[in-house]
Amino acid sequence: MVDVLLGLQWGDEGKGKIVDYLTPNYDIVARFQGGPNAGHSLHFNGKKFVLNTIPSGIFRESCVNVIGNGVVADPVRLKVEIENILAAGTDVKSNLLISKKAHIIVPTHRILDIANEASKGDKKIGSTLRGIGPTYMDKTGRNGLRLGDIISSNFEQQYRDLVNKHLKLIHNLNYFDFDLEELEKPFFEALEFLRTFKLIDSEYYLNNALSQNKKILAEGAQGSLLDIDFGSYPYVTSSNTTAGGVCNGLGIPPRAINKVKGIFKAYCTRVGSGPFPTELNNEMGEKLRKNGNEFGATTGRPRRTGWLDLPALHYSVMINGVDELIMMKSDVLSGVGEVKVCTSYRVNEIPTSQMPFDACNVEIEPVYESFEGWNDDLTVVRNFEDLPLSFRNYCKEVSVRSDCKIGIVSVGPDREETILC
Ligand code: IMP
Repeated sequence: MVDVLLGLQWGDEGKGKIVDYLTPNYDIVARFQGGPNAGHSLHFNGKKFVLNTIPSGIFRESCVNVIGNGVVADPVRLKVEIENILAAGTDVKSNLLISKKAHIIVPTHRILDIANEASKGDKKIGSTLRGIGPTYMDKTGRNGLRLGDIISSNFEQQYRDLVNKHLKLIHNLNYFDFDLEELEKPFFEALEFLRTFKLIDSEYYLNNALSQNKKILAEGAQGSLLDIDFGSYPYVTSSNTTAGGVCNGLGIPPRAINKVKGIFKAYCTRVGSGPFPTELNNEMGEKLRKNGNEFGATTGRPRRTGWLDLPALHYSVMINGVDELIMMKSDVLSGVGEVKVCTSYRVNEIPTSQMPFDACNVEIEPVYESFEGWNDDLTVVRNFEDLPLSFRNYCKEVSVRSDCKIGIVSVGPDREETILC
């Protein structure tokens, strides 16, 4: 069976920590979408690791990690990531499998990303500029290159054809500030390196594993509100970050999916542009950023911060069919005083609990309810009953209003700082 773990907000919910925590219950962890725009942080034995493309089960010896066909991979970044894990003493060679059908981010995809964003002026998406959008564009446009192609004898020709197409587009966007040769050297070195890894037909591997009753955890990247279909379009990423993406991104049937676990922060953050109804551009927003160390794991950009948005959370629970919620960073709200939660909106002055279609062009005013705060240090607590009453009430209200039970509360970044409810 396959369980799914995915983000319910705008990404950065803490998926890496929870996948790593849950991995002992699974035989395989598989990434089904996204690419090195993701930054999944893992903290254990006093160290921090950030994974971009490799599934977060990589540090657990008994677990096989699969980069699925729905992922887009940058060979240069993947090589660095693998080398960092090897340097930490973990054997990546035997427990990392890479789908031949995963698409390759080539250097000109990254340049196109930069050129596209530059051409958008103040309408820019705030992309991580890792080449994600252009690579998915080539995939759906039927121009892309896949990792399985790197073992083909005419790969170099296929690559050149694609690059020539890209160069025309880049020049049309009046962007000339790059040195392709300089970018190609590490690219070809990385391809050479990746040729020594296990490139497989991952859909066969995963379906065989299912028929042997193996347990698979599908690891999402980004968050549901950045989904290409259901996010605040066009301020989204270029893949299906929601549960629907699991079947396409891994080649497994819908009936194989068992439980969907949805992860969210006790407040909200967003990186990049786009609507954020509960954003706090004030001292409280600054406090959340500082207390929560809300700076991008991939880009280092300061994250926008705000109160928890229940209509948005409820929407994500609905789209994904979430069975169980996991609440992260609860400790960050300790000592901030009264805690607010957005329970509905006024969209162009009309009350609603629905996410507006045209969220980018309408005025969304959040309607808040306030909850008694708590001052205790939650990071030292290990049992739900020992948490302060006001915090437990907060959890209860969130659960009732989002129509989903909370299964785990995280009170700090370390594996140990995790409470089962
Ligand atoms: P792209 O996917 O890099 O093109 O970025 C598109 C939008 O999604 C931008 O607003 C990014 O900041 C955001 N984004 C992409 N990946 C992540 C992530 O892993 N966490 C949070 N935001 C992300």
